[in-house]
Amino acid sequence: MSLPYILAIESSCDDTAAAVMQGPKVLSNCRASQSVHEAYGGVVPELASRAHQAHIVPVVQAALKEAGIVQEQLSAVAFTRGPGLMGALLVGVSFAKGLALALDIPLIAVNHVQAHVMAHLIDAPQPKFPFLCLTVSGGHTQIVEVRAPLSMNILGESIDDAAGEAFDKIGKILGLGYPAGPKIDQLAKEGRAIYQFTEPRVEGLNFSFSGLKTNVLQFIQKKLRENPQFLEEEQINLVASVQQRIVSILMNKLKKAVKQTGIKEVAIAGGVSANSALRQALAEAGQKMGWATYIPDFQYCTDNAGMIGITAYYQYLAGDFVQQDTVPLARWSY
Ligand code: KG4
Ligand code: ZN
Repeated sequence: MSLPYILAIESSCDDTAAAVMQGPKVLSNCRASQSVHEAYGGVVPELASRAHQAHIVPVVQAALKEAGIVQEQLSAVAFTRGPGLMGALLVGVSFAKGLALALDIPLIAVNHVQAHVMAHLIDAPQPKFPFLCLTVSGGHTQIVEVRAPLSMNILGESIDDAAGEAFDKIGKILGLGYPAGPKIDQLAKEGRAIYQFTEPRVEGLNFSFSGLKTNVLQFIQKKLRENPQFLEEEQINLVASVQQRIVSILMNKLKKAVKQTGIKEVAIAGGVSANSALRQALAEAGQKMGWATYIPDFQYCTDNAGMIGITAYYQYLAGDFVQQDTVPLARWSY
């Protein structure tokens, strides 16, 4: 049997993305980002939906062209069903339904958070099953045990803000734009982590980041009363200190998960896995503790359609299709 061509569409937040798969291979991975949100310090849902409307057809056309196929060759259309912004999801879901209907091919509904983990099955080297994955994005922070493709058990997750949200919200306090994560990563390279922010005490393998945000805010307010120039003078050291604390919170829980499960195949996924300090901390922990560590290729860390495509491929093999009356889900645990 020849390998199926699957078109995968991602529109859960502020990236409109399309990928074409040939079996488990990503033939094209196209994306249009939305700069419209920068001025607002966060994603504006209504503007995200409108931008998806404008971008979706050109992005899909680019993905098909880059893959060197025409739509009539497709075996299935996959889309992100959730979790995400409802109005943003609706654009991708509606487009996928229309195309699947026109071509009379099956539809595949993919969970976005599960897809971040599945990004590890795109390129070699791939983690061996079972492996642990720390998924860190703007919307989610989880440690999952992955037993097989699509078979995952959530061992712990954030009880409030996600790690990426912590980067973004604290970055906003520190006067950086949106999204602040990549800027913090860059600026922290110049700074020294001289400020100690407390590590939250949270049960088991769960996380909490909202306390850190309050901690940073109160610390800065106190310092500003003593020195109105504190933020400008110390921005870089503050950024380095915040990043170090977020990374240590994540790594401490990951170490705990390895201890608890005895699994030494350890992966990270999601937008925050692009963070250079987290990547370095994972590599160091791996060397020190004899873990095999895995980070997806940079293009598959932040939101992308390739990860939706690889997940869809395994769902295709399992015959996991949905009907035309399927609706998006803003919240959806897998
Ligand atoms: O996975 P993703 O692209 O979208 C969601 O599913 O949320 O993750 C976006 C998040 C944002 O919070 C962004 O600030 C963060 O990932 N991020 C980073 C870096 N690159 C992206 N955080 C820290 N350091 C980075 N280099
Ligand atoms: Zn994501």
